[in-house]
Amino acid sequence: MPSPQLLAVWAAAYRAGLLDRSRDKRHFVFTYDPAAEPTDAQVSLTMPVRLESWTSRDLHPVFQMNLPEGALLDAIRRAIAKLAGENDLTILRITGGNQVGRNRFSLPGDGAPGVVETPESLDELLSYPNTEELFTELVSRYALRSGVSGVQPKVLLEASERATATVGGFIVKSWGGEYPQLAANEFFCMTAAKNAGLPVPEFHLSDNGGLFVMKRFDVGENGLPLGFEDMCALQALGTAQKYSSTYERIARSIRDFVSGEHLQAAREQFFASLVLSVMVRNGDAHLKNFGVLYERPGAPVRLAPVYDVVTTVAYISKDVPALSIAGTKRWWSRKMLEKFGVAHLALPVAKVGQILEQTAEAVNETMPLLSAYKKDHPEFREVGGRMLAIWTEGVSELATAKAAF
Ligand SMILES: Nc1ncnc2c1ncn2[C@@H]1O[C@H](COP(=O)(O)OP(=O)(O)O)[C@@H](O)[C@H]1O
Ligand SMILES: [Mg+2]
Repeated sequence: MPSPQLLAVWAAAYRAGLLDRSRDKRHFVFTYDPAAEPTDAQVSLTMPVRLESWTSRDLHPVFQMNLPEGALLDAIRRAIAKLAGENDLTILRITGGNQVGRNRFSLPGDGAPGVVETPESLDELLSYPNTEELFTELVSRYALRSGVSGVQPKVLLEASERATATVGGFIVKSWGGEYPQLAANEFFCMTAAKNAGLPVPEFHLSDNGGLFVMKRFDVGENGLPLGFEDMCALQALGTAQKYSSTYERIARSIRDFVSGEHLQAAREQFFASLVLSVMVRNGDAHLKNFGVLYERPGAPVRLAPVYDVVTTVAYISKDVPALSIAGTKRWWSRKMLEKFGVAHLALPVAKVGQILEQTAEAVNETMPLLSAYKKDHPEFREVGGRMLAIWTEGVSELATAKAAF
């Protein structure tokens, strides 16, 4: 009799293989189907199709990548409390039909998992007066179809946009009392990223500031899923190790995985997003907040757009960067960042300077927008006021062009 845990793994429309615990329960084992196509059915850039099984002590990082954490995991646990043997594979089985990236999971006897959803209206999501009530309702409807990681409460859903008359996949993020006004915080940080010319997914703030909504970047224009792997997966680390790495190692992963034709753009984007995170004091730019995208294995690999930038110091005044540079986690000086860009990203000195100026300008440009919103939204006054002070300091610390060489 097959193990009750046995799962079929799909890479886009291709059946890739089977995933299970080993008999002694000490390992997780993934085995490609003998008929799996060498590239189409490949489940990760780090796991080529081969006859030999892929064995891992913990669940393979690429399969762990989208395991819900925090509030979403709690919601799923509540919903499946009656199911015996709740563990990582059960959560994958439950959320497996709709995952960020190209991989899906189903019971071995079932066909390719597909989700048929009646789309929500994006306009209504953004203008609904009681977002708390709306979000509770969305979680009850979509939690079990949301293979997405991260600690903030969020769900994956389909929504139609009146402006374009198309239906697309969205991520709806909410916030709890611990981090008040997080959606507006993220909205203005992402606006600064956009103003700096960085690629960002389409994003929205709901009218009452309760929700941050963004378009999924892991779905192609034809609606087919793109391959997405975060830096945890690429560095063969589990989610628990998302803070146990360095920005030097991300630079190395970019060099190792991003295709030649996209490498320069990826290095500039990564450097600019790092500079932005220092300027706005985002202490949560860990391994899961960077990733790569590709149409299918073997096709060109590029860096995913910028996401999840938040002024964490607005809540945790002593917060420090999520990962280290030169062995330190502190808000580095301009000189340190310049050295990092040149030594680890092979960027010319002039380019590094230009990115620093451009990012400072973008943050400065975004502050009046934040101020205006703060004036109209008294509930944002406290957090918004802190953000303005933090950004002003962050920019002034880095903006003075002192020659490092
Ligand atoms: N626009 C997007 N499209 C597709 N996947 C995304 C997008 N934004 C984030 N993700 C994925 O969802 C995960 C959680 O989103 P994130 O914004 O980082 O939430 P959190 O604040 O909870 O960490 C990310 O680690 C990434 O895998
Ligand atoms: Mg995140």
